[in-house]
Amino acid sequence: MTHGRDPDYLRKEQYATDGNLRARIAVHERFSTSPMGFPRWMFNVVLEAPAEAKVLEVGCGNGQIWAKCATLVPPGWELVLTDLSKGMVDQARRRLDTLPRAPGFGVADVRSLPFPEGRFDLVLANYMLYHVPDLQEGVRELARVLRPGGRLLAATNGQGHMREMDELEQLLGTDPDREHLSFTCENGGEVLGCSFRSVRFLPYTDSLEITEAEAAVRYVLSRVPKETATPEALSALRREVERRIDGGAGLLHVTKDTGIFVASEPIR
Ligand SMILES: C[S@@+](CC[C@H](N)C(=O)[O-])C[C@H]1O[C@@H](n2cnc3c(N)ncnc32)[C@H](O)[C@@H]1O
Repeated sequence: MTHGRDPDYLRKEQYATDGNLRARIAVHERFSTSPMGFPRWMFNVVLEAPAEAKVLEVGCGNGQIWAKCATLVPPGWELVLTDLSKGMVDQARRRLDTLPRAPGFGVADVRSLPFPEGRFDLVLANYMLYHVPDLQEGVRELARVLRPGGRLLAATNGQGHMREMDELEQLLGTDPDREHLSFTCENGGEVLGCSFRSVRFLPYTDSLEITEAEAAVRYVLSRVPKETATPEALSALRREVERRIDGGAGLLHVTKDTGIFVASEPIR
């Protein structure tokens, strides 16, 4: 199993705290070419937020969506946030203690959700299904906890996402983790189609233009196990990032290939 699909590695190292995720989010916030940002795009373009709803987010990370879109959350929403990592849930709880209606929180693996059948109107599973080893088991759980008229939103990346970062990561002597290939923009419709009668995909257009070498280096380091970055490998990485920024008229262009699936009519 690649480390990106190993629940122990994810819980104990990659997502033990929100440090790695925060490092990547910071790069997206500073250097993305799309002015709206993914969370607001999801709320404004995809969500069609009803006034009242029971909403679950699985793999919630540090709760960034709700922190960024706090003013867009209808007061009639009952929100529950869960994640495999306790460190993430603790961080999300701390971060969201100012929301007008306090969310519920829980540590849970998406493959075994502690909720009854049909409990939620809307479930979000953003940028997390590719981490799940038994993907269909996780997708079946998402279908189970949705009410028959409910919807699942599941954001993910395509095969070309961040390919420049993959090239840079190879300088650390590891093969970039291709775990996201288990659930991509390309194959996600087929994966979700086993548990939902209706699935559509909305692409999100964006890219990165990074002007600061150290930010790109931090991004690469946030994706790999700690022991990977020997001092020699790190210098090679820094040199290459600087070379690419200089050769790119002061910026490193990074491809984003991403979007969101909207699935409904769960099959039980
Ligand atoms: C890339 S982060 C995405 C966080 C958040 N959804 C976002 O968009 O900012 C992936 C998250 O999925 C969680 N995760 C990984 N495997 C999981 C599983 N089997 N069940 C629940 N959460 C999981 C990780 O702990 C991590 O917080």
